[in-house]
Amino acid sequence: MNRQLMCVTCGSTYPLEDHRLRCDCGGLLDVQLDMDNAPSSPALTATFESRLPSRLPEDLSGVWRYRELVLDVPQGDMVTFPEGRTNLYTLDPVPLGLSALWAKHEGENPTGSFKDRGMTVAVSWARHQGARALICASTGNTSASLAAYGARAHIPVFVLIPEGKIAQGKLAQALAYGAHTLQIDGSFDDAMHAVEQMATTHNLTLVNSLNPFRLEGQKTIILDSYFQLGQMLPDWIVVPGGNLGNTSAFGKALIEMKALGLIDRVPRLAVIQAEGASPFARAAQDDFQHFESMQPETVATAIRIGNPVNYDKAVRAIRFTSGVVTSVTDAEILQAKHDLDRQAIGCEPASAATLAGLRRLTREHIVRPGESALLIITGNLLKDPDTTIALATGQTAALGVAGAASLNACANGPRHVPSDPETIAGIIEEELR
Ligand code: F0G
Repeated sequence: MNRQLMCVTCGSTYPLEDHRLRCDCGGLLDVQLDMDNAPSSPALTATFESRLPSRLPEDLSGVWRYRELVLDVPQGDMVTFPEGRTNLYTLDPVPLGLSALWAKHEGENPTGSFKDRGMTVAVSWARHQGARALICASTGNTSASLAAYGARAHIPVFVLIPEGKIAQGKLAQALAYGAHTLQIDGSFDDAMHAVEQMATTHNLTLVNSLNPFRLEGQKTIILDSYFQLGQMLPDWIVVPGGNLGNTSAFGKALIEMKALGLIDRVPRLAVIQAEGASPFARAAQDDFQHFESMQPETVATAIRIGNPVNYDKAVRAIRFTSGVVTSVTDAEILQAKHDLDRQAIGCEPASAATLAGLRRLTREHIVRPGESALLIITGNLLKDPDTTIALATGQTAALGVAGAASLNACANGPRHVPSDPETIAGIIEEELR
């Protein structure tokens, strides 16, 4: 299918091959599909389903399986692990009064987060274009994912991260996969500003979600869910919001699926931010008439972002889906993480914002009894072992989260026991009683 870059603000178009991150007017760019010449929805469905038994990497990938709606890249340039095809779990809908509740676990991707879906597309395109180096700013997961895909593509990788504010698992990945890791004395927003400037002046390929190819890959979270649910989508899709790449990608996926006739009814997006990093939720309160960035702070370091670059695309997504944006406290995030962890879904704090937000939206009667919802679990539990262990061992005070002390009652810390089997058996019997 033919594609071009199109500005979401003024509608100017550019060839797909242009090395540009923004329109001349400063607006964000979309990869625009030629909808008029798209295959019919039955033909697309048949093509996507026919790839399921295939063992080719481009068919095994839960991203490239949908390549007609993602990007045309020669197979030899594709950098794929493969990624995607993550599991979709059923949760108990009854406590929330819902008819159905699912969790799609994007933490099951090769580097443990949804970023791999976008990264396979951005890095494949970069390789196709002959990129000399790849760069990103990151709260951790983007850097882990880029480090991995860059290593597979044999292209040097530079990542900028806010010093001391990324979870240990993510830092470990970036270092282990050989990325040049630059820790800055500033926030993610400062790092994002720096990489955007450098990318243009120093011919470095930026792969943050400002890169429109990233978002084409992330659309497949929605496509995958649609096929896993038997060609339907629930009433609500709940996603955490940081830089708002997923929000934007989901909106674009739904716009295209509606235009292609894959869906008739558009699910509503619910974007959940941490209260201390909630510029999008604040802007939503007056229907996006004003936007103000903020100094972010939250235990969910993945979404510790005060000036999201994809704002305009995210507003489009909320408008198209009659979506809502809300925020939750860090204590609510930790409670939800505890509850998901105990169901062995397990996730990092940012992902748990989805359940916390859904709880809030049902309390506020925005999500109504009998409706169905899908939580997008964005990152793996092992990404943030420090927070997970603090929570599981009743050390929430060490996390500096107000109002989380009640969670300490659920602590499950390791007990010191002697090595004598009789004594250990006695303890086990006592626990089972
Ligand atoms: N959840 C996780 C686990 C993330 O890592 C991120 C973003 C988000 C949610 C928010 O997604 O930006 O699309 O709204 N992490 C980026 C990073 C910013 O650098 O890893 P978004």
